[in-house]
Formats: sequence, C-alpha cells, structure tokens
Amino acid sequence: MTAQAKKGMIVYCSPAGATRHVAQVIEKKLTELGTEVSVFDLGKKEDEAGAISEIQNAKDNFCLFVGSPVYVSHAIPPVMNFISKLPENTGASAVPFVTWGGVTSGIALWEMGKALTEKGINMIGATKILATHSMMWRSENPLGNGHPSPEDDKIIQDMVRHVCENLSADFTKGIPLSELAYYPEEARVQMANITLKAAKGIMPKREVDEKLCTKCEVCSDVCPTDSVRFSPFPEFGDNCIFCYNCVRNCPEEAIKADFSLVEERIRDRAKQLSEKPFIQIFV
Ligand SMILES: Cc1cc2nc3c(=O)[nH]c(=O)nc-3n(C[C@H](O)[C@H](O)[C@H](O)COP(=O)(O)O)c2cc1C
Repeated sequence: MTAQAKKGMIVYCSPAGATRHVAQVIEKKLTELGTEVSVFDLGKKEDEAGAISEIQNAKDNFCLFVGSPVYVSHAIPPVMNFISKLPENTGASAVPFVTWGGVTSGIALWEMGKALTEKGINMIGATKILATHSMMWRSENPLGNGHPSPEDDKIIQDMVRHVCENLSADFTKGIPLSELAYYPEEARVQMANITLKAAKGIMPKREVDEKLCTKCEVCSDVCPTDSVRFSPFPEFGDNCIFCYNCVRNCPEEAIKADFSLVEERIRDRAKQLSEKPFIQIFV
C-alpha cells in the first residue's frame, strides 16, 4: 500500500483501552510503511460522522481497519452500527480486528466480516487479540493479564505488513468468511442467540451513592454511547453497553458495582471453552 495509491483508515471503539492500543500499533506500522493514516474513535461523538464522510470522499481508495472489543461473544453495537452505515460497493478493502478477554472471541470477527462483505468490501485480513478482561480491572489476576504483550504487538505489525504487501500487489482474493467461523456451528448458533441486550439482566447492577456523587459528569464524558443523563444524579439509558467506564472512571468512586459473582461465572466459562490460539491473524 503506497501513500499515493491507498489511504489507511482505522476506526475503533475501545471503552477500556485494549482495542485502542491495537489501533495505535496498526497506525504506527502503517505510518512506518509510508501510508497516510486517519484514525477515528467511535467513543467520541463526532468521530463516526467524520469517518463516514472521509470514506465517502476516498471512494475505493482506502483500506479500513475496524476494531471492536468482544462483549458476550459479539462485536459491540457502536462498531456494528458504524459498519451498517458504510456506503455500498465502494470496492474498498477492510481488515476487522477484535480484542477479547480470555473467555471467548465468539462470533465477533465473523459478524464484522460478514457485515463488511455484505457492503461489497473486500476483507483482506482479520485478527483476534487477547487482552486483559475489562470487567476484571479490580482483580489481582484478571483473565488475559499482560496482553496485548510486546510479542502480540509484533504479530499485529506482521499482519499489517502482510496486508500492505497484498494491497500493493493488487491482491483481490480476500479472506473467505468461513475462515472466521472457527467455532462449531452449534456453538455459533448459541452465541448468536445470546445478545448483549439479552444479557443485560445478568450484568452487575450499578448504584449511585448520592452522598459521594458531585455531578462532575466524568461518567458521562467517558461513556462511549452517550447514555448517561443527570436527574439530578447519573442515570443509565437504553444504549448502555455495560462497559463500566462510568464505574472505572468515577473520581469519587460514587458509582458502585459488585463484580464478584460475575467474575466466577466468567472464569468458569473461560475454563469450559478454553479457546486457543490467544492471538490469531488471518491474511
Ligand atoms: C460487558 C462485557 C462483556 C464481555 N464479554 C466478553 C466475552 O464474551 N468474551 C471475552 O473473552 N471477553 C469479554 N469481555 C472482555 C473484553 O472483550 C476485553 O477485555 C476487551 O479487550 C476490552 O476491549 P477494550 O479495552 O478496548 O474496551 C467483556 C467485557 C465486558 C465489559
């Protein structure tokens, strides 16, 4: 991919920062390889419109790296909504990437690949990357601890190099979607049936300690889906994806949530599925 021929675009959502880290590794490598890059964070209000407008102007002249964390085996709604708004049949190329917390990468990569392919976009790479489980930041030994590691970063850089080589060679074959369906069909059907919405009932509940809350609005600033309203204390709307950024970032620790029960369930499920490999690239 030369700077003249193709532009790199990286669009991601990363409530806890692991997917952003991967986006930064990709950005650095693309820049090193002489590719012009734009980066958009779907957690910021104005970035989705900015990304779509840049894609419309670039026509087929870009390669889109699009990244999501895995929540309940799926890619998260801000990322899937963004893909659904992409213009059709631009002839562009894309590389979906996901970070997962050591339980299961589920069908997230497949879902993103399918939605991109349905837009007529050629999927020329994909990757899943293990990361610290973002519900376990209080645990001494979270699943995925220490990932993405410097070794993982090297694998990601390698994937970017491969993708660029394929693009400059006008490689048009793309990756078959079936490669991203790495779980047996029965498991994939089960995963498809349990949506994030359906799982809301089992997510740890948040409670606001009104004596501690100063209405500083940090919880609203860090919410990737703009779901916090004040009345007069924080309330969490229907678009909430349960990333717990509000809990994690509250300077007064006024938003409480108990992760002890869910943590046991997460570790059991991880043991039961024991998904390997932890990091995988498809090129
Ligand atoms: C609500 C929620 C659901 C999650 N579901 C899964 C899951 O199904 N499988 C998994 O391995 N990790 C799961 N995770 C962990 C995240 O996928 C992982 O930590 C990811 O790297 C977070 O990305 P981020 O740091 O960019 O936000 C979940 C985290 C949250 C908050």
